[in-house]
Amino acid sequence: MATKETYVDECAKRHGDFLIPILQDIQEKYNYLPEDSLKEVADTLNIPLRDVYGVATFYRSFSLVPKGEHVFTVCIGTACHVRGGARLAKTISRELGIQPGETTKDMQFSLETVNCLGCCAIGPIVVADGQYHGQMTSQRALDLLKKYRGEKNDSRES
Ligand code: FES
Repeated sequence: MATKETYVDECAKRHGDFLIPILQDIQEKYNYLPEDSLKEVADTLNIPLRDVYGVATFYRSFSLVPKGEHVFTVCIGTACHVRGGARLAKTISRELGIQPGETTKDMQFSLETVNCLGCCAIGPIVVADGQYHGQMTSQRALDLLKKYRGEKNDSRES
């Protein structure tokens, strides 16, 4: 009897033995790397599970816990910090009711901080679902959250 093809099988067909692209596809589909998928990847590629975890935990873009539908990342590196990056992180944290590294209970938002995104000149920076927003203010960050919540934005600041 033929067994049903799993998503990991599909990924392995697409990427062969290349672990990172397989993990990227799994991360994209589930928004994190489920433990069962990691075990299946290890079996499929015939490599030790610890090696799969080694890669999965090395890169910040991978997560072993479910993330929210929207991921907000605030840069708190030195250049952004002196322009209010930490204040932005606090504002978003207070608005969402979560700390950096956490996800809201409704799984809508995750908040993360990072120490430099390599574009200090436009800081402070907030990245929302991969889109960079430079020269952020607290008001603009709140407006951005409203936009992602699907709420009407009534701020006059652009
Ligand atoms: S410190 Fe924020 S982008 Fe470099």
